[in-house]
Amino acid sequence: MSLQLGSIAPDFTQDSTQGPIHFHEWAGKDWVILFSHPKDFTPVCTTELGAVAKLKPEFDKRHVKAIALSVDDADSHRRWTGDIEQTQDTKLNYPILADADRKVSNLYGMIHPQASDTLTVRSVFVIDPNKKVRATFTYPASTGRNFAEILRLIDSLQLTDSHSVATPANWKDGEEVVILPSIQDPEVLKTKFPKGFRVIKPYLRLTPQPNK
Ligand code: BEZ
Repeated sequence: MSLQLGSIAPDFTQDSTQGPIHFHEWAGKDWVILFSHPKDFTPVCTTELGAVAKLKPEFDKRHVKAIALSVDDADSHRRWTGDIEQTQDTKLNYPILADADRKVSNLYGMIHPQASDTLTVRSVFVIDPNKKVRATFTYPASTGRNFAEILRLIDSLQLTDSHSVATPANWKDGEEVVILPSIQDPEVLKTKFPKGFRVIKPYLRLTPQPNK
């Protein structure tokens, strides 16, 4: 069965470009994006790993660590790193797990046999500081992921964890958010949303982003 939202991200020890990683210990108190790619020395993967390296300042701002994975070994990852750095004009500033024995791929369900018996698909797991899986998605080998969307997703998770709101379609940091329908007490509404709110329908109330 695939990993479900709210479950604890399985712990593991696996080799990487930065030596053995004890996953929970490595994650510490940070958020994590764990993402798999199909294969080293392939074009889309090369652009993806470069894109994540360039976003490090954005991940740091949100206390997020990135970690990549494929079923290639650490020597292959290290040789490919040179190509990524040269062609994407960046330094690879996060580890790539070397999952040649598929230990982590199998734990996280990153091999989808109907797509490929041998290669990992493009899985993403967003894991919070309590090691809970908070979001997942899966893309095929042919489609590179939009890492700006992953930042947007993390912004939403972090905001909605600390305020009684949810984020609407296509929301971006700084835009209006939705007040949870469970919040009905007028005094609580006044305290939690001092900037006021607009009632579109009784169940659809919009308020300026509370932490801005
Ligand atoms: C790529 O990263 O370009 C790729 C990897 C596996 C299959 C197809 C494309």
